[in-house]
Amino acid sequence: MDLAPLLKELPPTIQTAIDKASLKEYGRDWTRYYEPNPSAIVFPKSTDDAQKIIQWARRHKIALVPSGGRTGLSGAAVAKNLEVVVSFEKMNRILSFDEVNQCVTVEPGVITEELQNFAKEKGLYFPVDFASRGSSQIGGNVATNAGGIKVIKYGLIRNWVTSLKVVTGSGDVLELNKSLVKNATGYDLRQLFIGSEGTLGLVTEVTLKLTQAPKPANLFLLGVANLDAVMKVFATFRKACDVTAFELFTEKALGHVLSAFSELNRPFETVAPVYLLVEVETVNDESVQTALSAFESGMNDGLILDGVVSQNETQSKNFWRFREDITEALSKYTPYKNDISVTIANVPEFMSEIDRVFQIEYPDLEIIWFGHIGDGNLHISILKPFDLEMPEFVKRCQKVDALLYSTIQKFGGSISAEHGVGLSKKPFLHFTRSSAEVQFMRQIKKIFDPDSILNPGKIFDLTPL
Ligand code: MLT
Ligand code: ZN
Repeated sequence: MDLAPLLKELPPTIQTAIDKASLKEYGRDWTRYYEPNPSAIVFPKSTDDAQKIIQWARRHKIALVPSGGRTGLSGAAVAKNLEVVVSFEKMNRILSFDEVNQCVTVEPGVITEELQNFAKEKGLYFPVDFASRGSSQIGGNVATNAGGIKVIKYGLIRNWVTSLKVVTGSGDVLELNKSLVKNATGYDLRQLFIGSEGTLGLVTEVTLKLTQAPKPANLFLLGVANLDAVMKVFATFRKACDVTAFELFTEKALGHVLSAFSELNRPFETVAPVYLLVEVETVNDESVQTALSAFESGMNDGLILDGVVSQNETQSKNFWRFREDITEALSKYTPYKNDISVTIANVPEFMSEIDRVFQIEYPDLEIIWFGHIGDGNLHISILKPFDLEMPEFVKRCQKVDALLYSTIQKFGGSISAEHGVGLSKKPFLHFTRSSAEVQFMRQIKKIFDPDSILNPGKIFDLTPL
């Protein structure tokens, strides 16, 4: 279909792009195993524009892919079938701040870090935080129900969205919840849109509550003896302190970060198989002492091999880099990513079971473990050897996925903790969601998006295979 004359039907406020470079850039996310192939990009500037785009797409049966900072890792924002990408980067204003309610209303294209800085200027805190804070956008965070490094204390973005304005796939504009704290009037449709990966509607306004500025904290970087020791250290700290982050990475992950970023040095001489970043609130001398005692007790029990505690902000930032720079350090290997979760109590047994699977299935491939282990969430990246073709590599990883996900199913876990299903996890959705659940999701999609113009083929296919 020649799209050029159809694009002219859109109101002049909506910019469009069809040049090759833009199509490539806007047609993909951070997954690198799909060829981007959109037919155009449209840039709404308002809810009205978004509604016009939906009406236009329905008229011409054009598939739309909503797009934010394109930092997703499951292909949910990939346009590979001539879809039109709806980029929200021109809807990037902070619209209002309500001091009494401690709420901020933003357009979807606001960058996560900008919102964090805005909250800070107001003496408050927006606690949803992760490594891609500098480029991810609030709309995308809502679409994926973003998590990150502070979930252990503050929860997912779902907990912070008080109101949403959306244009559904049917073209209706809905204002969901209107920032009420209490609202017992039937189904909370707002929650349906959070985590729906752009399959139900275009989010055009988000109201988020902010919270008190975080209390002073200490950050421990610990080398631990083995995977088994991890949750024992977690229990020790959690019993004694207010833990605000509990992150894991392995020596292999650290090795990649150190070789990618020459300005960083090994945190201590001891080489440990696994490292933990443990952030705890330390409001007074007593809580500092309690945290140090937890550390000492881990050392005495032989769980912790070595460790350091940050002495200042700069040191804390550098400690975080060991964890947060892993994704960038690995990017040249175009890793195949698993993002899985089980309940915290199941973590040790689950980890040793999947470790066994990986040793058998991937004896020749390098596997990097890291993640938000205090939430039971592991990111496992399988590095592509440079001489292996991408389709072959993905095929092989997906074969192992089936084994990995059977183990997850046995533990009642999830095939995607925070990156979402998108395209890459779609074939495996049934390991976590029952066929009845998927069928209800299909029916829900049909209600909000009767012509299936919104991100078709993401999360599930409309017709079961
Ligand atoms: C992270 O926790 O660093 C992100 O989810 C990114 C990743 O898994 O690569
Ligand atoms: Zn993560």
